[in-house]
Amino acid sequence: MAAAYRLRQLKWRFKLRLAQWLLGDKATAPHFAWAGSGSSTQLCARIAESGHENILVVTDKPLRELGIMDRALASINLQTTNVHVFDGVEPDPTFSQAAEGTALFKAHNCSAVLAVGGGSSMDAAKIIALAAVNDDDPRGWVGLNKAPEKGVPIYAIPTTAGTGSEATMGAVITDDTDHSKQIISGLALLPRAVALDPELMLSLPPGITAATGLDALTHGIEAYIGIWERGSRSETALMAVKGVFRWLPQVMAEPHNLRAREGMALAAYYGGVAINQVNVGNVHAIAHQLGARYGIPHGVANAMVLTEVLAIYGSAAAPKLEALASAIGLPEATADSFIEAIGALRASVGLPSEHEAILRHDIPAMAEAAIVESDDYFSPRLLTVDEMSTILTSICAAH
Ligand SMILES: [Fe+2]
Repeated sequence: MAAAYRLRQLKWRFKLRLAQWLLGDKATAPHFAWAGSGSSTQLCARIAESGHENILVVTDKPLRELGIMDRALASINLQTTNVHVFDGVEPDPTFSQAAEGTALFKAHNCSAVLAVGGGSSMDAAKIIALAAVNDDDPRGWVGLNKAPEKGVPIYAIPTTAGTGSEATMGAVITDDTDHSKQIISGLALLPRAVALDPELMLSLPPGITAATGLDALTHGIEAYIGIWERGSRSETALMAVKGVFRWLPQVMAEPHNLRAREGMALAAYYGGVAINQVNVGNVHAIAHQLGARYGIPHGVANAMVLTEVLAIYGSAAAPKLEALASAIGLPEATADSFIEAIGALRASVGLPSEHEAILRHDIPAMAEAAIVESDDYFSPRLLTVDEMSTILTSICAAH
């Protein structure tokens, strides 16, 4: 067992060196963001200035029916740009949904995609942007940096504050054939320009506001404590963590507070910028298993797992967690006090610390799957299968 762990560690350190050598320490790519009330207007102007005569808006039916899509697009100049809408995106979008969108894109001779929605719409739009100009099977693009180099321009107006997909060169897509979640990444997936418009987030329900907010917090923390120091990850990750602690309680108490909604939109964006450079960590490796097996929403799963993973790291993460405790102004700058503050925030926004859907007999298989995924992340340290099982057992409500 100890020998197997040492072998994993050797491979893991080799992967880090390889990633550092291949990708370097510079930030990945430039893109542009407008933030603040009405900023979708500026993005719409940019789309017109870019000369797109036909664009495909990628969204979901509820946002269209609630009128949020129309508000996001209110400033599009219909004299110069024809808007075609694909509203067939569902939570956990699939390759076949992306194919439907791609067919519409081609039928209308579009030259750009504009995602209006949460992570699902943004991720689907990214796949459509690639498939629009590459005829090969998108399943062949799965993996790190395997996406084709060429895609059409992607613009994004996020309507949730959490996923950070508006700032990343990755997309999560579900394979219809086996329901597995796949990650496609490459520079062509990075949006050209985004608008973080809090006016479009005012009607976000409290449960989604809380869960997506804890996802953004997890992005900030996992990027900040990882062992790969790259680009602006420390600065942007810190802004994500501080932003969530500063604004999420206020957004929950005052859902129509534009300043607080904007603060959360920025925190989520910064979290996206940070993970775009150094990726996520063990919390996501476990949370993805809970999403895949039980359909537990991503932010809810992260929120449950986060405190347990941070506690189990021990001294490997303690100095960074002390820095985060200090950054959010806790009276005691210790790792324990920071973990307690996360637990208190989670409870205050109504998210659970354990879940009744988790079955004890599933834990060994989920722990193994989490180990496989975690070996691709540069977390503070590798966890053992026993540690993964301990964490999963601790969030299992059926004791
Ligand atoms: Fe996430």
